[in-house]
Amino acid sequence: MLTIALSKGRLADQTLDLMEKAGYDVTAAREKSRKLILEDQNAGLRFILAKPSDVPTYVEYGAADLGVVGKDTLLEEGRQLYEVLDLGVGKCRMCVAGPASLKDKLDEIPNKRVGTKYPNITRNYFEGVKKESVEIIKLNGSVELAPLTGLAEVIVDIVESGRTLYENGLDVLETVADISARLVVNRVSMKMKADEIKPMISRLRDVLQEQEGEN
Ligand code: PRP
Repeated sequence: MLTIALSKGRLADQTLDLMEKAGYDVTAAREKSRKLILEDQNAGLRFILAKPSDVPTYVEYGAADLGVVGKDTLLEEGRQLYEVLDLGVGKCRMCVAGPASLKDKLDEIPNKRVGTKYPNITRNYFEGVKKESVEIIKLNGSVELAPLTGLAEVIVDIVESGRTLYENGLDVLETVADISARLVVNRVSMKMKADEIKPMISRLRDVLQEQEGEN
């Protein structure tokens, strides 16, 4: 039996679509209920529905053998696990955003305040990559409010369609990382359950390659 941690919501549905194409019966996991553990005895799969930012935690500790989670969460959480496959869904970008007037002028503002839900990604980018010290202000959502209210000069956040930025008069200033959903595996499970996990990885990889060929 393999336990797979899914991020509740759209990503869970897209993951189940992929698993179905890879030949797994995921009928049980499709059940619309408030149950958080959905088990399919025949397929030998148990799905747990976790908050996205908790998926790497369940996988690192081995409470789940595998997980599907956004690269943003993996970068932010920095957990000890194997990232084995880019599932090509949930695509977006992690960006520095702010008023368009700051385009190409970001480096001219000293001691910037940066509003974000992702303090670790923000620190790694500004201090690690750009060698610049910034004040990070941790927020929990609606991050675009920060530059609009004067709380911060810029934000580091996810941009998918760009609509939230556009409708709030903000713009992408720099790209920090390309994001998509990743399949992650617990380090012990990878060895102890290799006979179940390895075929799953290669079946999913085949589906992804087929899809790429069609596009
Ligand atoms: C995310 C993100 C942006 C928005 C980007 O927010 O933080 O605000 O989606 O999407 P777009 O480029 O397609 O407009 P989410 O919906 O998770 O809400 P939150 O800001 O309250 O966390």
